[in-house]
Amino acid sequence: MANEFSVFNFKSKDELLKKMNELDIKLPFESNTEVLKKEQVIGDKTVKNSMVILPMEGCDSNIDGSPTKLVYRRYERFAKGGSGVLWMEACAVCKGGRANPRQMHINRENVGEFKKLTDHIRKSADGSVYLVAQLTHSGRYARPDNDMGAVIAYKNAHLDRFLPNNVHIITDEEAKELEGEYVRAAMLAKEAGFDAVDVKCCHRYLLSEFLSAYNRDGEYGGSFENRTRLFFDIIRRIKESCDIDIAVRLGAYDEIPYPDGFGVDIDDFRQVNLDETKKIVRILRDLGVKMINVTGGNPYYNPHVNRPYDVGPYRPPVHQLNYVYKLLNAARELKQEVPEMTIVATGFSWLREYGANIAAGCIKNGWFDMAGFGRQAFAYPDFASDIIKDGTMYRNKCCVACSKCTVMMRDGMVTGCSVRDSEVYLPIYNQGRNGKQSAISNEIRENL
Ligand SMILES: Cc1cc2nc3c(=O)[nH]c(=O)nc-3n(C[C@H](O)[C@H](O)[C@H](O)COP(=O)(O)O)c2cc1C
Repeated sequence: MANEFSVFNFKSKDELLKKMNELDIKLPFESNTEVLKKEQVIGDKTVKNSMVILPMEGCDSNIDGSPTKLVYRRYERFAKGGSGVLWMEACAVCKGGRANPRQMHINRENVGEFKKLTDHIRKSADGSVYLVAQLTHSGRYARPDNDMGAVIAYKNAHLDRFLPNNVHIITDEEAKELEGEYVRAAMLAKEAGFDAVDVKCCHRYLLSEFLSAYNRDGEYGGSFENRTRLFFDIIRRIKESCDIDIAVRLGAYDEIPYPDGFGVDIDDFRQVNLDETKKIVRILRDLGVKMINVTGGNPYYNPHVNRPYDVGPYRPPVHQLNYVYKLLNAARELKQEVPEMTIVATGFSWLREYGANIAAGCIKNGWFDMAGFGRQAFAYPDFASDIIKDGTMYRNKCCVACSKCTVMMRDGMVTGCSVRDSEVYLPIYNQGRNGKQSAISNEIRENL
């Protein structure tokens, strides 16, 4: 009973701590959040504090992939909110890799628009901000042209039922060609003024899918060396070609049964097994990667693993605190493996204002270096300012983990927080729910 899924109804920190105690979840809680103000050194840059805004896609770019007014609005709010690192949302390295026709996509023609955006963000930030461009190919979730365009690394018994009909298994030659797309995108990101590129390898998008390609033949399947080849080759090639910091958003485990999942115990997929993930982070360190953000799960198949929620598409098997713990503990185990790297954890939004306290407790105890906030940034973009100014976050500004931002995405709408930023996003949420998505999306786009 105690371990059942239930909504966040803690009225005080003592109630939260009591629940953690009941569940035997040992997360350090620190009332004093001072440690979150600590500067970090990444490469040759000093980051002004230990708070990170995680990539949060708005599905609201122009058709050519460049930023619209809504994108500007989002990043201006994030920049003014005071976090030290702004890890920008998924940006496709090629048109075919876009998860939707409105995903960001950087290319030679629109790089100037990205430069204007980063200039605007830097101007809006109070002091400096470290800017990361997340480079991605969406693989099985690529829908550059509505239902067309998905590619997979291998046939997957758990995930394939969500695929459109016209999917194909990417060939070794096609996979190899992607190296060039990543390098081009990294060079453009540098030109556009980013501090770092993230070679995204999580959430079962293409590069992370290769990590579990145990049963694929050829150069990219089977052995650890083969399954990680594309990912590491891309990083090597970027390093050779471009003077920009490299970061990685890494799916440490995906909670999908072996052999269709990665980072899981072979006999029990609900148990994390980080042996290969640890090997990966050691290699990333040796390749000169500066920063890793640890995440897990698959937002389409088991969203409760990556973003514990109160309202969502199904009732998860156990209490949300278990998933928060798994995410933060994975970051801790990986930090122990590569203490010299900057490790950013994911998993704080469901904790509401206590996210700041758990983050402070973990950082103080050396679990990881920085705390990353996803949905919280949509709801409460200035959470970092409040922590810096007042030492706390405020419940009435917090994300309520209602999943409406995801619902908007799945409805084909642009997305944001329809609860805390309702003036802009509630009408869009309602339109999406009323099934007016395509007409309304076009209308919204015209008015952006
Ligand atoms: C609407 C929405 C958009 C997201 N966009 C991205 C994205 O572009 N790239 C990415 O790596 N993760 C993305 N995520 C995942 C978040 O970065 C984050 O991992 C997740 O929300 C869990 O963190 P939280 O508990 O702080 O929200 C998105 C999540 C949501 C709900």
